[in-house]
Amino acid sequence: MWHLTGDPVRKYRDPQHEPLPDGDPDGDALAAAGGGRHDAIDRLIDHHGPDAVCAALAPLLTAERMARVEEVLAARLGSVVPVVEDVYDPHNGAAVIRSAEALGLQELQVIETGLRFQAARGITRGCHRWIDLVRWRAAAACADALRARGFRVLATTPHAATPLAEVDVRAPVAVIFGNEHAGLPAATIAACDGAVALPMSGFTESFNLSVSAALVTSHLAMRRRAHLGRTGDLDPARLARLRARWYALKVRGAVGVVERAVSRQTRGGVATEPQSP
Ligand SMILES: C[S@@+](CC[C@H](N)C(=O)[O-])C[C@H]1O[C@@H](n2cnc3c(N)ncnc32)[C@H](O)[C@@H]1O
Repeated sequence: MWHLTGDPVRKYRDPQHEPLPDGDPDGDALAAAGGGRHDAIDRLIDHHGPDAVCAALAPLLTAERMARVEEVLAARLGSVVPVVEDVYDPHNGAAVIRSAEALGLQELQVIETGLRFQAARGITRGCHRWIDLVRWRAAAACADALRARGFRVLATTPHAATPLAEVDVRAPVAVIFGNEHAGLPAATIAACDGAVALPMSGFTESFNLSVSAALVTSHLAMRRRAHLGRTGDLDPARLARLRARWYALKVRGAVGVVERAVSRQTRGGVATEPQSP
């Protein structure tokens, strides 16, 4: 489901970076990326259940592909979540998605107070399809929802007194990153449970947005995994749903394939049922 509330967002101003389309389940759309949207694949999984979707699609996947899906699922970490607010540059948007996915994080939350989030296609290289993207129009609502799921929500700013190394990773943690120019608004920082800084040792006053997101989440993911004693932490229901989604993303025309397989099975089931005398 999408979380969009408040004022309409403005579009990114550079025509070279068209906004990616929303809600295209088999295409390259950001909205098809995961938990933020509810697309045809989600509806398919809702209707038939993840196991039936996997059973219908498995014959079309190689053993190597399925093994790779299992390997990535086992390493998926749901308890470290990056959040970005009002990203200006689609190259930064894409780099944040790519780093999150590559680190094995399952979720990226996006606050669009003034700017619509966009990702440059050449940089995501399709990796946006494997993660859950959740959009918000207000930072406080995003922070509240994360807290309700048990997350501690931290602002990131070079001006914070607490260094990243002191963040407590015994509980799930979400970290919010600000705009390339203005950083995070004071209201967003106030809506968080604290603020942390990446220590800076040079003349430069701040890291680039996507660089700081990669540095912070890589550090937190490593410590969180060490604390958990395992690489992945998604519960069985979320893993089953994700497996079905990833199978569907790997098979062309997956929705039709599943519907036909299920209807064949149903017809077969009716035909083979014992007839009453
Ligand atoms: C280019 S910086 C914006 C700098 C802005 N002038 C400021 O003072 O916050 C973009 C974002 O990267 C993150 N960031 C950059 N350097 C950081 C640091 N040393 N510690 C924590 N976060 C940092 C913050 O989220 C920041 O809002």
